[in-house]
Amino acid sequence: MDTENGREAKLAAPLDKNEYHLKTFQISLNLFAQLLIGIVVGVLLVFALKDGLPSNKTFIHIILCVLGYQLLMAHAILSLSPHNSWSAHLKPVDKRRAHWILQCLGSGMAIAGSFIKISDKTVHWNTLHGQFALVALVFSVVSMVNGLASLYAYEFRKFIPALLSKLTHICFGVVGFAAAGISLCYGMEKGFFRSWVGDACAYTLMGFVGAFTAIIIIAPLITFYSKIKRN
Ligand code: HEM
Repeated sequence: MDTENGREAKLAAPLDKNEYHLKTFQISLNLFAQLLIGIVVGVLLVFALKDGLPSNKTFIHIILCVLGYQLLMAHAILSLSPHNSWSAHLKPVDKRRAHWILQCLGSGMAIAGSFIKISDKTVHWNTLHGQFALVALVFSVVSMVNGLASLYAYEFRKFIPALLSKLTHICFGVVGFAAAGISLCYGMEKGFFRSWVGDACAYTLMGFVGAFTAIIIIAPLITFYSKIKRN
């Protein structure tokens, strides 16, 4: 059994020099990603709310999609990382709980935001923004459904091998989240956003989206690779 003293001893166990530097680097990357998420989501919320609570469907879709994908889904993925500030101390069972709650909330908001804008248009998937949003939508929905199989991998083991359900969940989740980041960049390229924020700032924000999306998907990709290698 893990006694209080045992746990303290484990916590106090000194890391070797490389581990120490790597851990510092990983925690700093996590902090950096959180900062970039805050800036991007913050700017888009200010933009969408600049005339007060929006009745316009475009602004409503921006608020729901950005909060859903770039805030909640990003944190759903980060919550499983051992270097994530707010979840590092949680027990594995609570990390998984935080993950699926954030994932369901985020997907729900993102799906609602996407359908609000789809219902506002007569011609569909005629822009790169919309096409990547569709990829994000499909992969997020599949990843959410398949997440259930992953959460109950043990119970579902007769129908789908546990490893397969976990690998496909990571794969669909990563593709969905990356596609949402690309769609967001094409969204920020639209004239009405660039004329409000300025070209330089819009392109800087796109760089921020690229950076935090890459940082966030690194950990699941490493897990994916190590799960394949182990089996
Ligand atoms: C992750 C964030 C976003 C997602 C998932 C998303 C999703 C979508 C979807 C599903 C459509 C309908 C596509 C169609 O039916 O063809 C759409 C259209 C649109 N979105 Fe977004 N959106 C996001 C962010 C933004 C942002 C930040 C802006 C602008 C600042 C924006 C502006 C527009 C505009 C103007 C349209 C109509 C023209 C078009 O289809 O390209 N969106 N979006």
